[in-house]
Amino acid sequence: MAHPNSDIIPTVEGLAYGGDYNPEQWPREVWDEDVRLMREAGVNIVSVNIFAWASVHPGPDTWDFEQLDAIMDLLASAGIKADLATSTASPPPWFSQLHPETLPVNAEGVRLNSGARAEYCPHAPAFQSKVAEMASRLAERYADHPALAMWHVGNEYYRSCFCDLAADAFRAWLQDRHGSLAGLNDAWGTTFWSQTYSDWSQVLPPRICAETPNPGLLLDWQRFSSDALLKLFRSEADAITAFSPDKPITTNLMVTGDFSFLDYHRWGDHVTGPNRLVATDHYLIPPHDSDIEWPAQVAFGADASRGLAAGSPWLLMEQSTNSSAWRRGYFAKRPGDQLRHSLSYVARGSEGAMYFQWRASRYGAERYHSAMLPHGGEDSKVFREVKEFGAQLRRLAEIKGSKVVSRAAILLDFESCWAAKTPGQPSSDMATYPELRRWHAALWRRGITTDLANPAWDLSAYEYVFAPHLYLLDSDANLRAYVENGGRLVIGPYSGVVDHNDHVHPGLPGAIRDLTGVRVEEFVPLAEGERAQLDDGTEGQTWTEAAHAIDAEVIASFKDYPATGAVFHRRLGRGEVWYLATRPADLNPLFNRLGLFSDTPEGLELVRRRHEDGRTYLFAINHTDQSHTVAASGTNLLTGTQWTGELAPGETAVIRE
Ligand code: GAL
Ligand code: ZN
Repeated sequence: MAHPNSDIIPTVEGLAYGGDYNPEQWPREVWDEDVRLMREAGVNIVSVNIFAWASVHPGPDTWDFEQLDAIMDLLASAGIKADLATSTASPPPWFSQLHPETLPVNAEGVRLNSGARAEYCPHAPAFQSKVAEMASRLAERYADHPALAMWHVGNEYYRSCFCDLAADAFRAWLQDRHGSLAGLNDAWGTTFWSQTYSDWSQVLPPRICAETPNPGLLLDWQRFSSDALLKLFRSEADAITAFSPDKPITTNLMVTGDFSFLDYHRWGDHVTGPNRLVATDHYLIPPHDSDIEWPAQVAFGADASRGLAAGSPWLLMEQSTNSSAWRRGYFAKRPGDQLRHSLSYVARGSEGAMYFQWRASRYGAERYHSAMLPHGGEDSKVFREVKEFGAQLRRLAEIKGSKVVSRAAILLDFESCWAAKTPGQPSSDMATYPELRRWHAALWRRGITTDLANPAWDLSAYEYVFAPHLYLLDSDANLRAYVENGGRLVIGPYSGVVDHNDHVHPGLPGAIRDLTGVRVEEFVPLAEGERAQLDDGTEGQTWTEAAHAIDAEVIASFKDYPATGAVFHRRLGRGEVWYLATRPADLNPLFNRLGLFSDTPEGLELVRRRHEDGRTYLFAINHTDQSHTVAASGTNLLTGTQWTGELAPGETAVIRE
């Protein structure tokens, strides 16, 4: 059955193409040029009103829709749709001045000042009621506007606050979760260091304190902060639905960096359900700050987004044509990069490609942020490629609604990532996200399309499931079912160690001990740059464990201390499980051992999208400087000609098979 959202932005013809559009920063005459150039570039949707609170609601008793009306009307007359934002992500100074308690307080107890953006406390009633009111006013006014395609709530939710209002809200949330103070004391293990609470009023947010804070508190704080922002999002979404029940609602989630502020899986149905569109923002790390090449970074962002969408359609809401303004060091993409990157997002499931931003700002903190229309103007590499990609997307309209086919999955659990970041760990180098990215990139280089999936989801469709670092796990039940039914599961070290309260499971590796048939006696972390030698000629990095087979085969062992097994294998039911007591320095020998081969040369990206009725499309993106043969037959939609088999350096093709 088609997903109820399969044509999620029904008023947008074909795939979505556009970006954030901030005409409020420009004189009126520039708007006409904008619209002319948007049409030239094939732009069919723009995100408006993202940061325009100050113009829509310029004072406590004033509302002024004149400018937004003009923008919406202009778009409508040009046949361009609007992703209309509620503009609640950046309260203007008048609001903060009137309601100083809505300014956020950091962990040091310092109240931040107005002057940038996202200056709000999610727990302040004045802010909560104002954002719902703004959403409601806008929905009432624009529900039937011909330009309206969808609603964009807030912008990149991430804000947390440590003020007294937050403390009250945290206590209420904790009462709900733990039932009683005794339950809380138990969950947080407060007998340690005499932290036992005798009254709820003693419970505080994780404000800076004298020594290492309680990890259970930190973990609950992350959950609470994520839930509080979800509540805020939902209040706006509900306010919109009351006036505009038929238009899709979105908010832009972040898959950049560690994307670890929120538990997006816990946001679940509220962002993926009917009439919701999953939208994500992804910004590349410049080469001087990353070991992972751009095409693999793009693939990770896209695969992570597809994972957040969990089968629902999703859209890349923001990316950049060149540098972002906030990275360490400016950078420029090379000719063709932008085309290949954008097509890769589409290949991997995005229902279009959007950017931050349409036109580069002349002023403000992001005046050097790249755009579809750069400071360099129309006569630029960037804008020529923007036009070219717009034309390509038009030829790909028929792929809308098709789904990506993946062989493998990497497991991502937000709570586990949070728990692994709490202080007091045996190694500060055992981070989760960089390890997931490293595995993903190694699979990408082999040409394996990989999903990022939650460990509790149905994994039966995957040939291979990788859990490079699943630190927090309560039960192995779902993983066991996957293996017993024929799956191949590989679990990395320092997994299954703690439960949902961050209590260490007795008998390591706790939750996966029975599943792997391995017993871990002690942790033996490695120093930075140190390598552990294994007797199969491979090397481990970062971490080793003294690990013993209870009911598993030892495939390789450490040559030096701890001189125990390092790689374990166990058959279980119709499948198999591997346990690694170290992080392999090179993942290729492991993949070879698993029989995970693909005949795709490194740098040739091949991804398939499939419609429910069986029609398939092979996306081929050549990130290398050599020609490659792509064995497929059908029509290359980008050229409209029969596929001949040869993909030139840097070129792309989408073959309707
Ligand atoms: C995003 C944000 C945009 C813009 C962009 C710059 O995180 O949503 O408003 O700031 O970054 O890269
Ligand atoms: Zn606050």
